[in-house]
Amino acid sequence: MKYGFFDDNALEYVITTPKTPLPWINYLGNREFFSLISNTCGGYTFYKDAKLLRLTRYRYNNVPYDNNGKYFFIKDGDTIWNPGWQPVKTALDSYECRHGLGYSTFTSSKDDVEAKVLTFVPMEDNCEVSKVTLINKKNSDASLTLFSYVEWCLWNADDDMKNFQRNLSTGEVEVTDGGSVIYHKTEYRERRNHYAIYGVNTAVDGFDTSRDAFLGAYNGPDSPDAVKEGKCTGSVASGWSPIAAHQINVNLKPGESKTFIFTLGYIENPEDDKWEAPSVVNKKPAIAMLNKFKTEEAVDASLEELKNYWKELLSIYHVSSSNDKVDRMVNIWNQYQCMVTFNMSRSASYYESGIGRGMGFRDSCQDLLGFVHLIPDRARQRIIDIASTQFQDGSAYHQYQPLTKKGNSDIGSGFNDDPLWLIAGTSAYIRETGDLSILKEMVPFDNDMSVAKTLMDHLKCSFNFTATHTGPHGLPLIGRADWNDCLNLNCFSEHPGESFQTFGPSEGPVAESVFIAGMFVKYGEEYAQLAELLGDDAEAARAREEVKKVYDATCTAGWDGDWFVRAYDANSNKVGSKECEEGQIFIEPQGFCVLAGIGVEEGLAEKALKSVEEKLDTKYGVMILQPAYTKYHLELGEVSSYPPGYKENGGIFCHNNPWVSIAETVLGHGNRAFEIYKKTCPAYIEEISDVHCTEPYVYSQMVAGRDAKFFGQGKNSWLTGTAAWTFVNISQYILGVYPTHNGLSINPCVPEDFGDFNITRKYRGATYNISVKQSGAQKGVSKLLVNGKEVEGNVIPYEEGVKEYTVEAVIG
Ligand code: BGC
Ligand code: NOJ
Repeated sequence: MKYGFFDDNALEYVITTPKTPLPWINYLGNREFFSLISNTCGGYTFYKDAKLLRLTRYRYNNVPYDNNGKYFFIKDGDTIWNPGWQPVKTALDSYECRHGLGYSTFTSSKDDVEAKVLTFVPMEDNCEVSKVTLINKKNSDASLTLFSYVEWCLWNADDDMKNFQRNLSTGEVEVTDGGSVIYHKTEYRERRNHYAIYGVNTAVDGFDTSRDAFLGAYNGPDSPDAVKEGKCTGSVASGWSPIAAHQINVNLKPGESKTFIFTLGYIENPEDDKWEAPSVVNKKPAIAMLNKFKTEEAVDASLEELKNYWKELLSIYHVSSSNDKVDRMVNIWNQYQCMVTFNMSRSASYYESGIGRGMGFRDSCQDLLGFVHLIPDRARQRIIDIASTQFQDGSAYHQYQPLTKKGNSDIGSGFNDDPLWLIAGTSAYIRETGDLSILKEMVPFDNDMSVAKTLMDHLKCSFNFTATHTGPHGLPLIGRADWNDCLNLNCFSEHPGESFQTFGPSEGPVAESVFIAGMFVKYGEEYAQLAELLGDDAEAARAREEVKKVYDATCTAGWDGDWFVRAYDANSNKVGSKECEEGQIFIEPQGFCVLAGIGVEEGLAEKALKSVEEKLDTKYGVMILQPAYTKYHLELGEVSSYPPGYKENGGIFCHNNPWVSIAETVLGHGNRAFEIYKKTCPAYIEEISDVHCTEPYVYSQMVAGRDAKFFGQGKNSWLTGTAAWTFVNISQYILGVYPTHNGLSINPCVPEDFGDFNITRKYRGATYNISVKQSGAQKGVSKLLVNGKEVEGNVIPYEEGVKEYTVEAVIG
């Protein structure tokens, strides 16, 4: 069952009922000001950091779902309704929500009044603009009252939820222009120099800034007293819970419409220019912001600018094939999701509260693989920021706060895959841009500039960390965990409440990871290539020697007969082996070792992927492990804490499905690679939205596995490394346009009936118009013509100054 449809021309997903199985959300914001917005107008807003600078309040894990948002209420006689249906939930006569790239629109009607709401965050301004239009479609005059409503968060979202003894006394506001502009200035009197505003471009008939006054002490936003009364109270908040609500009386002749523009903004003042009078905030920048979006023309132009920005971005990689679902995911939604992961990492979604994790070291490095072609300059800065949280021994803070860019000491370090992801991200950036200068940038360790070294030195530390932390089998030590945060082999937690992520020693001299071995082989080689590019052949040779040792250990101690072992635990017992009672095979080492090229020549790779197909495959994707753990294994940690079929315990962890798909392309299996791609691909499972439940336009972190009661149900949509890895898979391996240090390589691996396709790829200042002809073979370019001339191999030689390349490739 579907709850909407894709409108590819408009680059939108159109939701046709508010009653989706779960809130289906969108992200607004491009630089520093962000909002989450659901298909019923729920969500919240923050500046830079979802934990430390939260503008509006959200109620997590509440009933009903999706509690609190930026709401508009329309009172028409005794009927009260919302264009997004929530929070009043009056049945609407029509409803449509369109989630576009960085904006959302709502078009609804009730009793012959139509409301249109457009909401977006402009490219360059720290605000969210909402254009609200009311249209009278009755045969008679309409006398309506429009109310707006947002609830302020007292900045630190964590503290806001907990520290009531203080926070219920600190709230402060100012109101100007008869109520049109409401200023939220809590804590501005002391250590803050920022405030938030909610203004409307018209005179108002009333306002409220006290939540209790507007809602009534015992009401929720589903039945605000002021709206029922048809009249705001003019309250000026002092402590308790400040809000911003406007009341506008709107009289419309038949056929008449009126538009209002609401601006929710964030303002920072210079320390020495905070006040315009004692206790009165300096409003100059706020007034300038409100003036900028005062007219419909200005708002429309700003939306156009946003749309053009996206058009431009999406023209960097564009495919046109006979397969509209592939085209729609590659050209629109997959890249969009990659940009959202750039902005959010794993911080703020409907599953991540925004107060827990900041930016993940491994997460952000992997996300980079999916957006580096879109925003290379910002990717460059991101790499430097991430590397700045590394320690001198190569290990790294697992997370950092986006506002301070400092490592998060609550979680600390000890996740032994982290260092290698820095090589992955840097290599991807340089292959995309050719910018070797980044390797010479001086980058601090643990944010301490006095011990800064070049980025290349950082990569060397990453490489050496793994090379010098190997265990009894010559495989890399796992530390707290590797990519699988839940495989906690040194943790041994016996009591509830202990965090699997931080409990116990972070290190053990014994527990080893075959997954990190796969990473070391792949990214060790990429490190060696970077050393070569810098002219350091000796370092490249040393790196390859180290890699060879781990390669050999993987093919011996890391091999279980039919698949790769997952790990060795703290007692040197195998994890993910036939010898195990549960958890006999894990997906990660099969995907990653094979994509790294391990065992391809030895025939192990072929066997490993067969085992994956036999033991882990389902109709909804490839499960992370089997058999799922049915009991808690002290020596394994969190992985065995989940009920079978969920999350890391046998869920279909979408993130590592593309690894297996890429691995299949390494072996030339286009049919199978694409089959795996399709199983988790949102556009392919749109039809079963009632089973899948999460948004049909983006990937979820997990789909419940075969052992779970709700097999096929998605969870944790949006913020997942799945976005980047599936984009890498489809764009670079299946469609086969892969950036190398020497230029683009063309080596598709597609199903035999995929058909011809064309790709436009902008790369290092040139445009490549690539047409691929398929003759029934799955892989193997038999002919490559570049600007009419035949070229040996797969790489299009990069010629300085050539701006257009016409490329013709024949598979088979
Ligand atoms: C989740 C993992 C996550 C980890 C760290 C675990 O509970 O299952 O997916 O990476 O927590 O937040
Ligand atoms: C989600 C985390 O964000 C990511 O870092 C981790 O690799 C996966 N869970 C698997 O545990």
